[in-house]
Amino acid sequence: MAYQWDSSLETGYEKIDNQHRQLVSTLNNLIEASEQGKDKDEIFKVLDFLTGYTIMHFKTEEDLQVKYNYPDYYNHRRLHEDFKATVKELSERLVKEGPTPSVVVIVTTTIGEWLVNHIKGDDFRMAAYVKSMDKT
Ligand SMILES: [Fe+2]
Ligand SMILES: [Fe+2]
Repeated sequence: MAYQWDSSLETGYEKIDNQHRQLVSTLNNLIEASEQGKDKDEIFKVLDFLTGYTIMHFKTEEDLQVKYNYPDYYNHRRLHEDFKATVKELSERLVKEGPTPSVVVIVTTTIGEWLVNHIKGDDFRMAAYVKSMDKT
C-alpha cells in the first residue's frame, strides 16, 4: 500500500516539504516496484536512490539547524543517525534474503512509519523554529 501525501505532512517550510514529498514518492516507487514484481536490479536501484536521498535530506535539515542554532540539534541529529543505521541494516537484510515481497513490506513499512512519525513530530518542531528565524 502506497503512502498518501497530505497536508498533515506539510511543515510549511518549502525546501523541507519538497524533500519530504520526494522521500514519500520514492518510498512509493519501492513499494510499487515490488508489487509489480520488478526484478531485483530495479528494486535495489530504487532502494539506493532512497538511501542516498535520505542522507542528503538529513544533511539539509542538520545544516539549517546549525545555521539557526536550533536548541534540539544534537537530539535531532542523533535520531537521523539512528535511522540511517536502521536503513543500512534493512538494506543488508534485503541483499542477504533477496528482495522478496515479504521482506520488502517489512523494509518499506519500517521506513514509512519512521518517516511519518519523524516528520509529524521532530521535523514539525524544527521547521517551525527555522521558519521563525529565517525571515530572509
Ligand atoms: Fe525530514
Ligand atoms: Fe529530521
